Amino acid sequence: LRKEIAKKYERKWNVQLDPETEVLACIGSKEGFSHLCLAMMGPGDTAIVPDPAFPIHNYSVALAGANVVSVPLGNDEKFIKNIATVIENMYPKPKLLILNYPHNPTAMTVDEGFFEPVVELAKRFRVAVIHDFAYGESCFDGYKAPSLLSVKGAKDIGVEFITMSKPYNMAGFRIGFVAGNKDMIEYLATIKGYYDYGIFQAIQIAGIIALRNCEEDIITQNQRYQSRRDVVCEGLVRIGWEVEKPRASMFVWAKVPKEHSKGKGSIDYAIDLMEYAEVAIAPGRAFGERGEDCMRIALVENEQRLRQAIRNISRFVRKDR
Ligand SMILES: Cc1ncc(COP(=O)(O)O)c(C=O)c1O
Repeated sequence: LRKEIAKKYERKWNVQLDPETEVLACIGSKEGFSHLCLAMMGPGDTAIVPDPAFPIHNYSVALAGANVVSVPLGNDEKFIKNIATVIENMYPKPKLLILNYPHNPTAMTVDEGFFEPVVELAKRFRVAVIHDFAYGESCFDGYKAPSLLSVKGAKDIGVEFITMSKPYNMAGFRIGFVAGNKDMIEYLATIKGYYDYGIFQAIQIAGIIALRNCEEDIITQNQRYQSRRDVVCEGLVRIGWEVEKPRASMFVWAKVPKEHSKGKGSIDYAIDLMEYAEVAIAPGRAFGERGEDCMRIALVENEQRLRQAIRNISRFVRKDR
């Protein structure tokens, strides 16, 4: 299984990995992510986590007894400069920087070259980096998400998590992987030695088969998500919500205009939508303070159901006005 991941990294991102020491399988990437935070952090330690964030990126740090320093999420030079300023002004220095592109919940992406200054910054301040690359293969319109590990020297400072849940639709199987820095992988392997006995063999075999034979299915699946994305984005624009068409992930991140939310927070607005429009979408606030004006729509229903959801939201918005 580890050899197949090493082959995949070479094939897709031109990254060479030693399957013995630079790859580890986890019971889903979330398990590996949180146990790595537990292995690396404790009271008095700090991690930098962009806001908004996938909840476990904050909670893994908190569950380890460490502190989170939030920085506004970004994907440009200004964002990296801001992180450098935060690190420079902190004592003791943060231990970890947590990144996630393509991003959940905002679907924010980065271009080739983004990770180079990240690696430089991590080396300069001796901060470890964990990159959650869960949506690295869920890309549209020909976009190719860059891997942290494809940057020279990245293996000196960090690791990347990938998962079989999204590209191979194997969320219930619980298989994910961490790849990169040998020491960080050893910390995780050590703590996992206390907590679990690895992955059921039949599931490992299913993982190997998927990795060997199902690359084409990823393309088909991405086309399906892309069509759903178009339905949702076009529908929301008609309603008057502010959306940018995402080029990756499984989400659309939309800003609700004030004349629709009428001062209601995103959590209350999501409850209203559930009650009066029979549509369940995630409130931006669930992902952090900076998500407050937004909603996350998951592309996990078929196009017909998504059109129905858009119609219901539209009816709710018109009635409520
Ligand atoms: C950013 C991100 N990381 C990790 C995961 C979890 O993946 P896994 O099923 O491998 O634990 C998800 C899925 O919900 C996710 O959105």
